[in-house]
This record gives sequence, structure tokens and C-alpha cells, in this order.
Amino acid sequence: MPADLAFRNATVIDGTGSPGIRADVEVTGDRITRVGAAGAAAREVDASGLVLCPGFVDTHSHDDGAFLRYPGMEFKLAQGVTSEVSGNCGFSTIPNEPGRTYMPGDIAGPGSTWTDLDSYFEACLALRPAINNAMLVGHNRVRAHVVGLEKRPPTAGELAEMRGHVAQAMTQGAVGFSTGLIYEPGRYASTDEVVALASEAAPFGGIYATHMRNEGDRLLEAVEEALHIGSKAGVAVHISHHKAAGKANWGRVRDSLARVDQAVAGGQEVTLDVYPYTAGSGPMWQYVNLDAIDEEWAANVMINSCPDTPAVEGMMIPEIAAERECSLSETVRDLLTAPRGKQIICTHFIIDEADIETNLRHPRMMIGSDGIPDLKGRPHPRLFGTMPRVLAEYVRARGVISLEEAIRRMTSLSCERFGLSGRGLVREGHFADLVLFDPATIRDTATYKEPKQEPQGIAMVVVNGQIACEGGRHTGAGAGRALRYRQGW
Ligand code: ZN
Ligand code: CU
Repeated sequence: MPADLAFRNATVIDGTGSPGIRADVEVTGDRITRVGAAGAAAREVDASGLVLCPGFVDTHSHDDGAFLRYPGMEFKLAQGVTSEVSGNCGFSTIPNEPGRTYMPGDIAGPGSTWTDLDSYFEACLALRPAINNAMLVGHNRVRAHVVGLEKRPPTAGELAEMRGHVAQAMTQGAVGFSTGLIYEPGRYASTDEVVALASEAAPFGGIYATHMRNEGDRLLEAVEEALHIGSKAGVAVHISHHKAAGKANWGRVRDSLARVDQAVAGGQEVTLDVYPYTAGSGPMWQYVNLDAIDEEWAANVMINSCPDTPAVEGMMIPEIAAERECSLSETVRDLLTAPRGKQIICTHFIIDEADIETNLRHPRMMIGSDGIPDLKGRPHPRLFGTMPRVLAEYVRARGVISLEEAIRRMTSLSCERFGLSGRGLVREGHFADLVLFDPATIRDTATYKEPKQEPQGIAMVVVNGQIACEGGRHTGAGAGRALRYRQGW
């Protein structure tokens, strides 16, 4: 029987980190059926001069709600992303009580009809998503669901109920448990509370993914806490968007990585991810104490989405302040105290360029966009540009890591860590999630001012054997699946 699809004369970079080889690759149904010399196929693609590699995995997404609002997932698919992990930073859309609003500016997006992971996946699949989705169950959500946004410890009964939600999500195939310990209400949790909840992932071999309690002055203490939680709970630790925030702390990612290496040498399982940009992004109110606004911080902040005053989207706080003839503090206060102020998403330039390179050189460092899919405003360009930016800027232009190594960290390493079985390698029998691109021209085009632009240099993206994007055109194949932890579908 002829194959459905064959790539001829591709440079196959298989995801293991090995050098590329010249080969044909055949796809039949949803699988890779041959790597070598291919026979006849219904659709043949001349891949000479192009790299064929496994589809990229975005290990850090906030697309829980996006899968329902934008099932075409164009901003990720066009980057070559075929699978991603949602539910990060403690923000997940499960558990959910239909109709309830959990917190303002919830980056997991609004809940809807579902109540748990099974029914959430069902709602997503009904819309035929373009890419695969795996989920973490988030601490902020679980805590908001049971305790609300109050600043207090849970009662024994509430803790038991919270544990039950984590356990249920794990039973239904969640990858693990995530925290965002700088955010409300996660920041009100003691270390022991997090240990108790993370330990519910242990019987499933699930992981603990964390936006740590501090990424600035107290970065190393926060790493210590994360490692402690992992070892007490008996789960692997994944440090999200590793960084040293604030000029005074630049360079300290080296100390933090050294501590990670030490833990790994001692037998602990630890991995990390990073995005290739010097700015972070998130709900502005979560970063601000209205009684003591940090003007040094405010000077480096840009507004992405602002439902009350869309005119300020894309502007820096100092520009807005100059226009309004008021101070940086007053500007921040005015924006946040407006009726929908808590829905403002901002970008803050807090990261050192050299630290990104240090991060990318670490062999346990994966790539996670941390993109916030609010397409109404001007989102941080990482939403559209992350994967090509690593290949264009850090591989091709600067030579920070090799192409094969970058691909390994965007594919097989991520699939292994996040339990996406049967994916992440170009190998016979594996799912046919593939990207075909030109290594000489692939590049991100999204900028802070013009962020909603798809990358260039990607010839084709295949999801579960279906051509999902070709020459920049989205085919609407809708072949994405719900990926349950280590279950291989
Ligand atoms: Zn985060
Ligand atoms: Cu995040």
C-alpha cells in the first residue's frame, strides 16, 4: 500500500541530538512508517535543502482557554508547535464550576461548561483543535476553587478537598501539578501545603512544575523551596521560565543552575524551561503593591491589553505618563483602578540577555513560550515567535547551541519530561508530528510593537499525520488530540 505522505531527500534531524542524515520519511495514517528510502506515496514532498524534525513542544503555555477561543491555534502552529503543555504557573481551567469567575485577569481564560479534565478535553476536541494539548492542574485554580482568594491557610477539610482535585486530575491524565507562588492566591500557601498537593501527583509519576515564589532577590531560596517540595512529595521538579529578574540579580541564573546540577548529581530529577526574550509578561495587578509602587519597575513596563483604554496598548508606562502629564506611580494606579484594571496584561523588561544564553546552554533547559493568548491587544511577541526565534537568533546568528541540540530540547526532551508518549522523535512507529523548515531562513517576525506576525521559513507542519500548515497557509485539518500523561495517544 502506498504511504499517505512522503518527504524526499530531507535532512532528518531526529530529535535525539544526533547530526542530521539525508533520508526520505514516510507517513501513513497518524504514524511515521518509514525513515530511509521511501516508496510511492499519495502526496510527495521534495524536501531537499530542508530540515525535517519532530514537531516542537511548547512546554509552557497558557492556552487552556485559547483551545476553545482559537481552536486553529495559528499562533502556535505557524511556529511548528504540534503539542503543548497548558495549565502552567498554577493557572489552569480545571477544576471548574460552570458560570463561576475565579479571579480577575485569570490567564487560563474563562471556564465554561466543563467541570474536570475529562470534560474539558471533550469540549476542546469537539472544536477540532489544530494541535495537541496536555495539561497541568494548577494550584491557584485549585485553591481558588476551594478556599477562594482569601489570605489564610486552608482548613484540614479544605486541604483534603484540594488534594482530591489534584488526584482526580491526575487520574484523568494530567501531566502533573503546577504552582505560581508569586501570584494570588498561590502566594498565601505554605511550603507544606504545596508538598501535600504535589504529593498527589507522585503515585502517577507526575511532575511538579513551578513558577517559583521569587525570581529576583530571593531566587536561590525559591530554588531551594522547589527542590524541597520535589523531594518531600516524591515528584520530579520542573522550573518554569528560569530567570534572574531585576538588574541587581542579573547573572545569578548561573548560581541557580549550579544548584540544580548539584541536586541532579544527588539523584533528584530536575528540568527547566526558558523563553528567548528579555521581557516577562502577565496580569499587571499581580505584580503591583498599590501602596508602594516600584517606579524603577514601572519604567520598564509596556501595556499589552487594556480593555478600558485600548489606546495605551503597545505603549510603555513612561510614554503614557508623559502623555497624561503625571508620574509613573499615578499612571500605574490610574490604569489598575479603572473598572477593568485587573484585566490588564503587561510586559516587563526585567531579564538580562546574557542570562538567556546561559540558560540555553544548559542541557536540561527546554523551550516554553509562556505566551498569553489575548489576541485583542498586543501580546508579548513570544506568543508568535518563540520557537523560530531560538533557531534564528540563538542557533544560527549567535551559535549558542547547535541546531541538533536545540531541536532535542524542543522535542524529545520535552516529550520525555511531560510524558507525551510516542512523540518527539522522527522514528518508525512514532506519531507523525513533524516540521519541515529551511534552517537558513527560519525566523520570527513578531516584535513588541507588531506582535501578531507569523514566522517565516517553515514549509510544512504535520500533526498526527495530517498537513496542518503548508507554506504559511493553515489547512484547518483539526488533527490535534488531548494528550494524557504517558498514555501514548
Ligand atoms: Zn509564570
Ligand atoms: Cu507562565
